[in-house]
Amino acid sequence: MHILLVGGGGREHALAWKIAQSPLVRRLTCAPGSDAMAATIGAKGTCVAVSPADVPSFAKAEGIDLVVVGPEAPLADGLADQLEAVGIPCFGPSAVGAQLETSKAFTKDLCAAHTIPTAAYGRFDAADEAKAFLRTMTAPYVIKADGIAAGKGVVILDTLEEADKAVDEMLAGQFGEASATIVIEEFLTGTEVSVFALTDGETLLHCGDAQDHKRAFDGDQGPNTGGMGCFSPSPLFTPAIKEATYTSIIEPTLKALKEKGITYRGVLYAGLMLTEDGPKLIEYNARFGDPECQILMRRLRSDIVPALWGAATGRLSGIGLDWRAEASANVVYATKGYPGSYDKGSEIKGLDDAAEADEAVLFHAGTKIDGDKVLSNGGRVLNVTALGDDLGAAVDRAYEAIEKISWPEGFYRTDIGKAYRGL
Ligand code: AMP
Ligand code: GLY
Repeated sequence: MHILLVGGGGREHALAWKIAQSPLVRRLTCAPGSDAMAATIGAKGTCVAVSPADVPSFAKAEGIDLVVVGPEAPLADGLADQLEAVGIPCFGPSAVGAQLETSKAFTKDLCAAHTIPTAAYGRFDAADEAKAFLRTMTAPYVIKADGIAAGKGVVILDTLEEADKAVDEMLAGQFGEASATIVIEEFLTGTEVSVFALTDGETLLHCGDAQDHKRAFDGDQGPNTGGMGCFSPSPLFTPAIKEATYTSIIEPTLKALKEKGITYRGVLYAGLMLTEDGPKLIEYNARFGDPECQILMRRLRSDIVPALWGAATGRLSGIGLDWRAEASANVVYATKGYPGSYDKGSEIKGLDDAAEADEAVLFHAGTKIDGDKVLSNGGRVLNVTALGDDLGAAVDRAYEAIEKISWPEGFYRTDIGKAYRGL
């Protein structure tokens, strides 16, 4: 099989690492991929400078059997639809399916119509109605742009004054079309867990759970980021909570999509809040989490390709996934300044030593390889992952590995998994 993987971040490096191990895969091409991904794939494939818009014609010309889409943007732009039109199976939903991620109002309305547990909410395109609704809520106030706003479209505010201001700014076009509609939500208290389910539109296959650390600095301080480190499995995601998640959230979602005539093929990533009243949906994503994917791939013993193929082609039924008993952890090494502005091009040393640490594998999120030098080339730059007999052992090994890296321009959190050790 010849697979085309779309994307070039840490999530895609981990997917490429896993896919390239499959005996079913003759060739793996990545668009655009990265220098590190090219090194991982080796003789089995290549990275090509093909943009998502050109993927369908490229895939057709190259005789690609399956396209696996890493990030959400190409899905929102209809890449899966374009591939369907040329008859190439795609792991990743159509643009209407991807609305689960690209439109918070779509997802909230779907939850309301099917009594899927989520935060109480209102959706608005007029400021006076939004402000009247705010006065029926209690602080903190959660205000979200409907569409995708580069991770900046959610604000949580303590006072009505700040909330009113956010309503005015968003509706005045702070995020363009993405904030022409806003959602105001009840604030949920609890712990967040990321849950992943593969689906071909009919069958669901659990694909792991994880806990991410979204704030930039230790102790959950500082700005929100894409994720600074994570571990899997989550000790809080018990069999009973898993059962409740599937019966009250994920299965009804798939049923609701089917009723709308949407055949969702790819991964449903449910961002949950584990509350005193059980799991509640915060948001869906139409792709794997990053950095969660990296540690799921470390724990997955089975070949992932039959599951990707099954989801993309409507043949997921009967396919299972076998997981290692060990826990996995991922510490993200980011450039100082991230998630704000930062410089690129600083040299990172010691990566070979880190990769040789016990049970460590490094995935690159934003590097460039220049001869024998590795240079930073992004905000989140490296994922240092490790396996261990339990969460504590996995985390310790990830830190043993990351400490071998010398990169004065970088920073990482030192408390990944700390609160959950020994649970
Ligand atoms: P979202 O893009 O909807 O996932 O929101 C980004 C982050 O904001 C989430 O990961 C949560 O940490 C937080 N968040 C969003 N909605 C709520 C809510 N209703 N209650 C508490 N925290 C929330
Ligand atoms: N790690 C959070 C996300 O991928 O959205």
